[in-house]
Amino acid sequence: MRIAVFGANGPTGRHLTGQALAAGHEVVAVTRRPGSLPARAGLTVAVADATDPVAVDAAIGGTDAVLSALGARFSKKPVTTYSASATAITGAMARHGIKRLLTVSSSIADPNWRPTGAHFFNHVLDPLVNRRLGRTLHEDMRRMETVIRRTDLDWTLVRPSGLFEHSAITDYLTAETSADGVFTARVDLAASMLRELEEERYSRTAMGVITTAVKPNIARLIWHEGVKKR
Ligand SMILES: NC(=O)c1ccc[n+]([C@@H]2O[C@H](COP(=O)([O-])OP(=O)(O)OC[C@H]3O[C@@H](n4cnc5c(N)ncnc54)[C@H](OP(=O)(O)O)[C@@H]3O)[C@@H](O)[C@H]2O)c1
Repeated sequence: MRIAVFGANGPTGRHLTGQALAAGHEVVAVTRRPGSLPARAGLTVAVADATDPVAVDAAIGGTDAVLSALGARFSKKPVTTYSASATAITGAMARHGIKRLLTVSSSIADPNWRPTGAHFFNHVLDPLVNRRLGRTLHEDMRRMETVIRRTDLDWTLVRPSGLFEHSAITDYLTAETSADGVFTARVDLAASMLRELEEERYSRTAMGVITTAVKPNIARLIWHEGVKKR
């Protein structure tokens, strides 16, 4: 398959691109920073801002499916990256007749998601980090989901929980709507998207994905996600 990957330069997008190439797919990596993607067999780099309909239209022509792992940062101001990119991507897909779309969203987009036994997370971290500091970002993620749900594309909204880095794919779990767990390894998130591309078990619905076999080191997670990445 020839796959367009948005956010290909990001932490999840790099796993997605690497795993897709290893599985024998051709990848069109869509990024605003082409210089930081090393050349590889099967990889084409397309320069586009995902919120620009003209640039997106040019980038995805000739592909069979679109996978998006792009993301924005927490901000006090309104975030529009998710909904604007969803509008540009779905519009371009309709024009090109490309049907299959998998987009990373978040477990937070499920209003009923409260992982079992995670009292500190549910009562302290989630209200403070996700619902307060990340309020405008998650509002736009929900708008993105609405934009995508209204299309007649063959879409899957992929909802991971807290992302962390791990070196190898684990025996991750998926579930419809959202999955019961606090963490998702990016390597598993990427693997679940490529598997879903083949299996189409969650077509026109949301797929939660969580990692249970390994847990992140919390100090390293805070350093990597909260300090280094910002
Ligand atoms: N962190 C968590 O715990 C968590 C939990 C659940 C869900 N998520 C979601 O999971 C997704 C992946 O997260 P991540 O940490 O791997 O990646 P990320 O750092 O959030 O972003 C990935 C990439 O998005 C691209 N991007 C942003 N705006 C763009 C635009 N206008 N046009 C084109 N590309 C754009 C950037 O690429 P370029 O600068 O190269 O163009 C960036 O490298 C995000 O949507 C995130 O919100 C995260």
